[in-house]
Amino acid sequence: MDHFNYQNGHLCAEDVRLSRIAAEVGTPVYVYSTATLTRHFGLFQQALEWTPHLVCYAVKANSNLAILKLMGDLGAGMDVVSGGEYARAKAAGVPGERIVFSGVGKTIAEMRMALEGGIRQFNVESEAELQALSQLADSMGAVAPIAIRVNPDVDAKTHEKIATGKSENKFGIPIAKAREVYAEAARLPGLQVVGVDMHIGSQLTDLDPYRQAYAKMADLVRALRGDGHTITRLDMGGGLGIPYRRDNNAPPLPIEYGQVIRDAVGDLGCEIEIEPGRNIVGNAGILLASVIYLKEGEGRDFLILDAAMNDLLRPAMYGAHHDIVPVNEPTLGAEVSAMDVVGPVCETGDTFQKGTQLPAMMAGDLVAFRSAGAYGAAMASEYNTRPLVPEVLVSGDQFAVIRARPSIEEILARDTIPEWL
Ligand code: LLP
Repeated sequence: MDHFNYQNGHLCAEDVRLSRIAAEVGTPVYVYSTATLTRHFGLFQQALEWTPHLVCYAVKANSNLAILKLMGDLGAGMDVVSGGEYARAKAAGVPGERIVFSGVGKTIAEMRMALEGGIRQFNVESEAELQALSQLADSMGAVAPIAIRVNPDVDAKTHEKIATGKSENKFGIPIAKAREVYAEAARLPGLQVVGVDMHIGSQLTDLDPYRQAYAKMADLVRALRGDGHTITRLDMGGGLGIPYRRDNNAPPLPIEYGQVIRDAVGDLGCEIEIEPGRNIVGNAGILLASVIYLKEGEGRDFLILDAAMNDLLRPAMYGAHHDIVPVNEPTLGAEVSAMDVVGPVCETGDTFQKGTQLPAMMAGDLVAFRSAGAYGAAMASEYNTRPLVPEVLVSGDQFAVIRARPSIEEILARDTIPEWL
């Protein structure tokens, strides 16, 4: 459920008409709903209320400071994967003891930043990283709390570019090797083993891969305890999928996911961490765009928008589908026709949808891409020197620009021409 609905023929974000935002901020623009974000975060809290837990919002899904502040104020922890994301979480007021640092390629500078600023745990992904962190923490007279990310070798049954839990993926340590690596971690100075971490992929629409992975995790925890390690925390990763189409194939709900966790590891007495991103923010955001031109091609018509692949990369990158709806509610029985919805970027890949049934449109009309809150603005670029897409947050009948559109002058000012040219 989200808070983007038609009211009196106008598509609204909560109680704000999207046409008002377009008039005041311009398009393209991302629009997020505070009520949806709050509701989705609450569903994960509820799903884990049977145990001590921390819901660590995956910052990569949408890293705007206002979103992080909202999450942090609701009690969320943060899952970060770079020094930049760590700095964002801190700037949004989230204390270090609620920040988990994931990622396969943490640099020494990034790890130092987290050790100095405070960190709940590093999710370590390789033996090389383990040694580097040990040396660094030891040299700083610090102790780094760690979990080791284990790769359970299960098929997450999702898009190949976002599956992470198969042995051929670059992530984690093979589960068969985990006991050996934990033994090494226990020997090394500057480290304190606190838990086990796993993340098998993103946009999972079936709970079975989780069941398989978490069963392997439970076995590992028992074995590690037998080896003498103290395991008090389990990081179950993120990845629970969202409905991108309004049909009856909705993915499992957070409450069902919470039950899978409980069944698999509930008897181990550990604090549970999860790292949802998309499920919290995906359906809490839309991308609002204007029609620039209608173009009749040979045998097909094109709807050319002012949003492009640089603003919403997912269709070009993963063949992802985002429902596209007119902001003026079509009248019942209005005639529709098939259109290819495209952006202005000079690549054929800049196509959002082919053969979409839409009512008659005119230049200046507004459309909304649904389910665009996650990995939308966060993956946007300025390709074709198109200014980075702005973001707006709505709450009730008020809205605020939470990232302004840069001017062309600001974009140009970032480049420097050396004096010898
Ligand atoms: N934890 C870790 C270690 C991750 O790598 C990810 C996502 C998450 C948590 C959050 O997963 P989520 O709950 O959002 O599914 N750009 C792609 C998605 C990439 C996901 C990368 N890792 C897309 O647009 O579909």
